[in-house]
Amino acid sequence: MTRNGFFDLRTALAFLDSKDELTEVAGEVDWDLELGAVTREVFRRRGPALLYTNIKDYNRPEARCRKLAAGLMGSFRRLSLVLGFDELQPNRTLIDHLIERNRTLIAPAVVENGPVHENVVIGNDIDLYAFPAPRWHYLDGGRYIGTLGCAVMKDPETGRHNVGIYRSRIVDRDKLSTYIISSQNWRSIRGKHEALGSPIPVAWVFGWDPVMELVAGSPFPREICEYDVMGGYRSAPVPLVRCRTVDLLVPAAAELVVEGEISLDPATYAIEGPFGEVTGYLSGVPTPRPVTRVTAITHRNDPILRGTAASSEPGAIGEYAFVAAIQRAAIAWETLRQAGIPGIVDVFVHPVSNGTTVVVQIKKLYEGQPKQIAAALWGSASGRTVGKFVIVVDEDIDPSNYEAIDWAINYRVDPGSDDLVIFRSLFGWSLDPSTAPEHRNLAELGEGLWNRVLIDATRTWRFPRRPEWNNEKFPPVGLNRPEDVERVKGRWSSYGFTGWKVDF
Ligand SMILES: Cc1cc2nc3c(=O)[nH]c(=O)nc-3n(C[C@H](O)[C@H](O)[C@H](O)COP(=O)(O)O)c2cc1C
Repeated sequence: MTRNGFFDLRTALAFLDSKDELTEVAGEVDWDLELGAVTREVFRRRGPALLYTNIKDYNRPEARCRKLAAGLMGSFRRLSLVLGFDELQPNRTLIDHLIERNRTLIAPAVVENGPVHENVVIGNDIDLYAFPAPRWHYLDGGRYIGTLGCAVMKDPETGRHNVGIYRSRIVDRDKLSTYIISSQNWRSIRGKHEALGSPIPVAWVFGWDPVMELVAGSPFPREICEYDVMGGYRSAPVPLVRCRTVDLLVPAAAELVVEGEISLDPATYAIEGPFGEVTGYLSGVPTPRPVTRVTAITHRNDPILRGTAASSEPGAIGEYAFVAAIQRAAIAWETLRQAGIPGIVDVFVHPVSNGTTVVVQIKKLYEGQPKQIAAALWGSASGRTVGKFVIVVDEDIDPSNYEAIDWAINYRVDPGSDDLVIFRSLFGWSLDPSTAPEHRNLAELGEGLWNRVLIDATRTWRFPRRPEWNNEKFPPVGLNRPEDVERVKGRWSSYGFTGWKVDF
């Protein structure tokens, strides 16, 4: 059972608090590196979501913005809660939920007024530095206000709104520079504005119901408006208000909206990057990139800026890695379903990989099944950042358990055979630092390129059957018979283990 509701950040925070999944950070924390380091160390310790209320330089009563919320989706339990469940749900339940909700479209409702317009700042009063945007990591190119910032744009022909997460940093009181990879939806909106010779109106949403971040960071087909998907997640139309200076619609209860225009004239570009990215690595070098020239800032009273420490590394998994794990697993599962491939038991993405590795557990029905799975995932438009490694395992291997996967790779894979299949130079994720620089040259290639690998870690069907192995092609595992284990269990206390006491 899920509860619906939310549609603003404050209710989401209150719900997490009621589940002991939120802590207020009341002591002073510096926006410059300290806030990022605290956030990452809390992630490392698998701590709760964080509401910073005492940020250096922003803790005077007259400060325009004094709070920042991080980590709302930083564990599978919190992700389950944000999705509307009352408790942690298993991978399969979350995936089924996402697949179903990703297909449920409810059109938004335009309302006259909303709390996001409690304060409207225009003209010389515009000042992005009035918000406690952190410098998250010491090598970041600046103050990244947009780590979970959602850019709302509109197709100038169809009027359809598009929402995507793109990182953004403050370059001046009224300027944000942005890194937008030429992913499909942005590309088509940009192309149409180029043809018109007009700048792109944009509204950045920095804090609202986390369902926006969950949906905006995931690839949906161009014809789908993300607001409709968000409505589906909450079983209600998203209440939207009209922006004050651009012809766009934004959530009525957003904490903070930055309205503006992106010029496509390279002469207007400003330096963006580098940034400590979700891969755990510093991404890129300082590069001139498109700028949002701010035309208005609107915000709630006592607004809460939303942000997060993006990067993931073993032991310190970033917040969005959990969302990426579930969303990318759901997308992969749906792709396999649409391709009509039978025998899929589970699809698991380990958060640290953000979907770069997809593990598919199958009931093997024919020898070519793992290759068919890889081909379907690699051939799907939604697979741009999904499945550099596709690992297929049998039913007895738990795909969420790296030890089990490792065992399967060790003894079910012959690297010299076609258990390993490499598909070179497919489209791919340009943020991957192991990809050769020339394969990350978006200007030349349009998309990044990935060499992709299938690891077929299922037991092969190419071997002959052996009568000594119960007429199977692979030797048996589980070398204690159940009856032997039962006998040992019955006599366990009689063995007299000295200095070691454990129940069977
Ligand atoms: C936390 C997070 C940060 C992201 N940062 C960027 C970014 O800086 N640039 C980018 O092009 N895509 C980024 N993405 C990926 C896009 O949000 C994603 O591809 C989305 O589907 C784009 O939407 P669109 O296809 O509607 O443009 C990010 C995603 C997440 C979840």
